[in-house]
Amino acid sequence: MNLFDVYPLYNIAPVKGEGVFVYDKAGTKYLDLYGGHAVISIGHSHPTYVSALKGQVEKLGFYSNSIQNPLQEELAGKLESVSGCENYSLFLCNSGAEANENALKLASFHTGKSRVIYFEKAFHGRTSGVVAVTDNQSIKAPFNTGHKVTRLVFDDVPSLENELKKEDVAAVIFEVIQGVGGLEEATTNFYTEASKLCKKHAALLIADEVQSGYGRTGDFFAFQKHGIRPDIISIAKGMGNGFPMGGILIDQAIQAKHGLLGTTFGGNHLACAAGIAVLDVIEKEQLMENAASIYSYVKSAAAEIPHVKSLKGRGLMIGLEFDFEVAPLRKEMLFTHHIFTGAASNKNLLRILPPLNIQKEHFDTFFKALKQALKNFSESSPATATNIEKS
Ligand SMILES: Cc1ncc(COP(=O)(O)O)c(C=O)c1O
Repeated sequence: MNLFDVYPLYNIAPVKGEGVFVYDKAGTKYLDLYGGHAVISIGHSHPTYVSALKGQVEKLGFYSNSIQNPLQEELAGKLESVSGCENYSLFLCNSGAEANENALKLASFHTGKSRVIYFEKAFHGRTSGVVAVTDNQSIKAPFNTGHKVTRLVFDDVPSLENELKKEDVAAVIFEVIQGVGGLEEATTNFYTEASKLCKKHAALLIADEVQSGYGRTGDFFAFQKHGIRPDIISIAKGMGNGFPMGGILIDQAIQAKHGLLGTTFGGNHLACAAGIAVLDVIEKEQLMENAASIYSYVKSAAAEIPHVKSLKGRGLMIGLEFDFEVAPLRKEMLFTHHIFTGAASNKNLLRILPPLNIQKEHFDTFFKALKQALKNFSESSPATATNIEKS
């Protein structure tokens, strides 16, 4: 049987990972500045994580959500203390799309309304409801187009108010920092006004922190910088450091009822063991602090490279913007310098989403390689001044 061919693949097959590196069969070492798409939070094969998963699978790998599973409570308690998000409850599922799908469904149950507001360049996943609120026509099938959704310009308060005034909106969903969309972040004014307007018009505010959460921005959640309190927060990616898991944090004002939401695999014993280990390591190794401090280092280093026109994002969710398309540059970084980087819908943006325990020396390697690789692009795109402020 062939694989259903939906992914354009690099001809590299990592077989081993350790910290910020992955290795192929021949032992070639790659620096992972992509983190398997922002998934690797505490580093590949972290010893705490490996022993937690090994220990759990030896005891009990899975049982359904029809029995007591104290690991779910332990995970929820730890998530509350590490994130600082109090008076939420946790529903566990298996992926980012599923988290957002449950968030939208719950908002609709809670408000009794059905329309959802989303924003330009948003990416919330590929299942039916969330692909409908994703700004990419090419991944929406006719089946996905029956939802009541409205797309607005990000950071535009008056248009949001106009829509909410119609009183039929169940939820407003946004990524606080857009991932696939190219690391756009709105102003604090937008987030606080959106929050107030949702309350006024009885709509729920959903922060999709699938990519920006779990310490990646230097705060546990990206919205925390803006001082808002979303009604629902969706999480996945870094939560399991590669073990597939997702969830939503649900404000205490939203009532649960048996059968309202459900899943077979969500919150299983192995996933909880992975999730608890991740939070333990984030806390013990102060990975949020590391993300924030490494960002300052990256910013100074990027400011020395005139080809880099701007730096987007924060913490270890970073975009280096060039004035040319970066696909060939990414290939050169990968095949010549053995460094994984990411792309975005903005074709000029090189996305950096490394494990949160990355160190300055790894970025030294990256910038040295980048400078070398850029020599090949100088003729087609001569270096002019960067717009990054020197700090
Ligand atoms: C912000 C955001 N939300 C949701 C998703 C979907 O997550 P998953 O691929 O786990 O379904 C992604 C995936 O890239 C994402 O970046």
